[in-house]
Amino acid sequence: MSALFTPFTLKDVTLRNRIAVPPMCQYSAVEGFTQDWHPAHYAGLARGGAGLVIVEATAVSPEGRITPYCTGLWDDAHVEGMARVATAIKAAGAVPGIQIGHAGRKASANRPWEGDDHLPADDPRGWETIAPSAIAFGGGLPQVPREMTREDIARVQADFVSAARRAREAGFEWLELHFAHGYLAQSFFSAYSNQRDDAYGGSVDNRGRFLRETVEAVRAVWPEHLPLTARFGVIEYDGHEEQTLAESIDLVRQMRERGLDLLNVSMNFVIPQVKVPWGTPAFLAPVAERVRREAGLPVASGWCIDGADAAESVIARGQMDVVMIGRAHLANPHYPYALAQTLGVEQPAWTTLPAPYAYWLSRYRGPGTASAQ
Ligand SMILES: Cc1cc2nc3c(=O)[nH]c(=O)nc-3n(C[C@H](O)[C@H](O)[C@H](O)COP(=O)(O)O)c2cc1C
Repeated sequence: MSALFTPFTLKDVTLRNRIAVPPMCQYSAVEGFTQDWHPAHYAGLARGGAGLVIVEATAVSPEGRITPYCTGLWDDAHVEGMARVATAIKAAGAVPGIQIGHAGRKASANRPWEGDDHLPADDPRGWETIAPSAIAFGGGLPQVPREMTREDIARVQADFVSAARRAREAGFEWLELHFAHGYLAQSFFSAYSNQRDDAYGGSVDNRGRFLRETVEAVRAVWPEHLPLTARFGVIEYDGHEEQTLAESIDLVRQMRERGLDLLNVSMNFVIPQVKVPWGTPAFLAPVAERVRREAGLPVASGWCIDGADAAESVIARGQMDVVMIGRAHLANPHYPYALAQTLGVEQPAWTTLPAPYAYWLSRYRGPGTASAQ
């Protein structure tokens, strides 16, 4: 009996298994609008058997995009295209989720395959970035952001609320706030990037205010019966891991008290010079387990967990409730089917794939064996 292939229920939503496709930017939108690519891409991922498919980081305002090609939900006009994406995911049997966020000082960048750095100052596609303090990220992202005023803070929080409302209108059933990876919310919580001397900076409590308030404001419009989640970096591999983790877990508890239903455990990425233990398989699993235990809420996590044994084990050992598997899905959108086969799940094709595929594959041994029928 596979733990990975047991259903997971959170609020009124049930995932058919514990596998989620994490948000992965496609950098293929125009003015925030989805294109033909998006429903086709997301339908393909959902068809492969994952329980949950989370749509890429979608900007709550134009200046909150990472690149000029990121999807957006800052305008009611964006809802129709996003509804096509949510419908496509649901029709293929997965729960449609979406991540909404603001890129802060990491915004106004090139696509990864075009440099992954800030657009030059004279590039007409670029824009002024904003952040808690006027401190640049550094490395390939040297643009110094404008320090946000209190009005900016209130406006961005209102943008999160409006984007959440539009996500619901589009038919999404699982909302993930992007509080990770050095983008705006994460940069409020880190003392590296937040040196404000008002109520949003200074003490740990003040640095957590933007995140707490945003959870609370979004919870007021996101239906109570649907999961409200966040992706949050609880650790920076900078030599101060324990302190950041302890402070982060405390904030997660406070966000849980304000209505957060699950945390997608990730990393800070607030400074460029970090030593992430990439070579250690499932390195975030013990971190996720600790957040789950000490903050007292369900967790999802991922990063380099893409083998059947690793995926099965993090669920079976109770380190996380849902496992995020990203790039392996890009390599093979039917990856959950492959996992089910490897783990000896009964009827792997019927467990993961839609009937028009499952019927045939349940009696097919793979390429090169067609004559065996
Ligand atoms: C193409 C690509 C785009 C990504 N975009 C996002 C994103 O929009 N939001 C996010 O939180 N993480 C993003 N990530 C990180 C992934 O969600 C995931 O954490 C990462 O790929 C590690 O998991 P993996 O080892 O299973 O691929 C992206 C990763 C990739 C490869």
